[in-house]
Parts: sequence; C-alpha cells; structure tokens
Amino acid sequence: MTEQDFIPKIYPKQVENGSVTWKSPSNIALVKYWGKKENQIPANPSISFTLDGCNTTTTVNFSQKESHQEYAFDVFLGGDLKESFKPKIETFFKRINTYLPFLKEYYFKIDTVNTFPHSSGIASSASGMSALALCLMSIEKMLNPDITEEYFNKKSSFLARLGSGSACRSIDGDLVVWGLHNEIEGSSDIFGIKYPFNVHENFKNYQDTILLVDKGEKPVSSTIGHGLMHNHPFAEQRFEQAHNNLSALIDVFKTGDLNGFVNIVESEALTLHAMMMCSMPYFILMKPNTLEIINKIWSYRKETGSKVCFTLDAGANVHVLYPKAEIEQVVQFIKNELVAHCENGQYICDQIGFGAKKIV
Ligand code: PMV
Repeated sequence: MTEQDFIPKIYPKQVENGSVTWKSPSNIALVKYWGKKENQIPANPSISFTLDGCNTTTTVNFSQKESHQEYAFDVFLGGDLKESFKPKIETFFKRINTYLPFLKEYYFKIDTVNTFPHSSGIASSASGMSALALCLMSIEKMLNPDITEEYFNKKSSFLARLGSGSACRSIDGDLVVWGLHNEIEGSSDIFGIKYPFNVHENFKNYQDTILLVDKGEKPVSSTIGHGLMHNHPFAEQRFEQAHNNLSALIDVFKTGDLNGFVNIVESEALTLHAMMMCSMPYFILMKPNTLEIINKIWSYRKETGSKVCFTLDAGANVHVLYPKAEIEQVVQFIKNELVAHCENGQYICDQIGFGAKKIV
C-alpha cells in the first residue's frame, strides 16, 4: 500500500454532528526507532510491546460549521482547556488534511484523559496521537461505512504516525512492527502491523514495571534526537543492526528464548542512548539512578538466574521487563531494591496489552 491508498474519494454519506471515543495505549519499543527520513518515515524497522494500563482516552465531539476556511477545535486534558496543545494538533491536522479532507468542515471538541500522570516523564504522544487518529477514523467511517476493519486499522496507524512516529505502533496487536523488514511480510514504513508470526507462551502477559526516575522535562526532544541521526558517524551501522536484531527476535519469539530476548532488548536500549552520546551535539538522558537500577538488575539476574531485563525510552525512566511467571519475586525485588531510585518512590506496574479499544 502507498500513501495514495489513504486519500479518500467522495464520501457517500453526510453527517452533521456526533461523538466518538477511543482508548489507546502507550507502547515500549524492543528494537528502537531512532532516526527518520522525511514525512516520518523511519530510518529502520522497530518492534514494540503494546502496554495495557498506560493509555489515553479521547472523546471527539464534532459538529458541522459554516466556513471551511480553517481548522476549528479546542483541546481539554482532564477537563482543563489546554491552549498549549493546540499548535501540535494544528500541525497534525495540516499533515493529514489530504487524507481526511473533512477536517475543515467541522468544529471538534477534543477531550482527553491519561491513566498515567501527565508529568510522569512517560511519553503521552503515542497513546494521545493514536487515540486522536482513531477518533478521526471513526468519523471517516461514519462518512463511508464501507471502510473495512483492515483499512481502518492501517489508516489509523498511518495517520497516528504523522502525529508522532511511534504512535503508529499503538493501534492493534500486542506486538507491533513498524518499518519495512525483508523477513516480515506486510511490514511497511508508513504504518505499523500486528507481528505476524508465532509467539511462544513465555512472552504472553509479559510484565513491564515503569520506574519513574526523573519526571522533569527532557533536555533534548525526540524530534531533535531523531534529527541528529543525520550525518551521525554510526548511523548506517546502527540501522543495519536494527534490521539484524529484528531478524534475531523472530527466532527468539518462536522458541521462547528468554536469554536471547534479554540480550537483544538491553543492547537495543543501550545502543539508543549510545547514539545520543555520540551525536553532535551529544547529550545524555540517563541519570545516576538509571545506572544504579541497571546495575542492580544485572546483579539480581546473576544471583538468581532471573530473566528480568530493562529497556529505556528517550529519557531517564527504566522499563523493567519480566515474564509473568516471575511476577512475585521480581515485584519484591523492585520494591526492596529499585523503588529507592525512583523520584518520590513512584512506579507503574503494567503488562502487555492488545491495542486500542473503541468505547462509544
Ligand atoms: O515517536 P517519537 O518520535 O517520539 O520517537 C520515539 C523514539 C523512541 O521512543 C526512543 C524509540 C521507539 O521506537 O519508541
């Protein structure tokens, strides 16, 4: 499929007003997306676990307006009007206008609520942008009820990607691949797809405890970070490595090889941060507590033979990943040893989920 396939023809129906609600999750990448080409095309393929508890619920009320000159919308977070969110959404609308030509015909009231604290340092852009994309697609489906579920999911992911790259991995499935990979049929640079191969029982209900190490603003945004992969001295090797790691994960998921999983996932997390440390300008997003936690996880694994491991986003927080079978021991270990390194002792227990859900 290409971008052209997402440009609609004339809509068969007219709708004056209505309301739609979607709940959409955050996701955590196992093979990381870091570096992009124009139009939010990823420089390498990535794969993520969809989360279950960390999500955004968005309701869009829409009503036809007279003038079709401009976009008209208001955004509320937890009931409070958020003027500061408007520029990002206006940019999003401009980017997707060709694919949703009805956007200027309506006034939209966008109400959004996150289950995780807004200032927690957990990126809300993946869940937020995917929830909004899904709501807009539900409106398109009212205008054209013939849209199939497959097209709906692909186009939702395609639109979410134009809002925030990794948001395209938050639509459908527990494991989602985004970016063309030669061993994964159906994979695409323009939308995410449900991982199409067998996944061993070991990875069912995988747990993710997010340790909130630093809730402050990141000194370098991911947009700038992606940009620094242009002319990066190790960019090509890194992109090739991501392809190879994704290939290796196919076998890991098939056979249930937890050691293989740990090695790939931790190496990916550290490579992501290594890329930041040797870009120009260079920067560090990990904090001393991030390293304390990593070292404690390594010691614990060595002492106990546990398969617990960590991954990192573009920030200081640590995602602690472990099989469901180890939940009791690992949660105890987290409480005893790791929580002391979290800001105000804050952490969030989550697990792998299955994608977004329509509420109304
Ligand atoms: O979706 P963005 O542009 O915020 O980029 C996210 C990049 C990482 O979270 C660091 C990695 C990933 O694949 O999610």
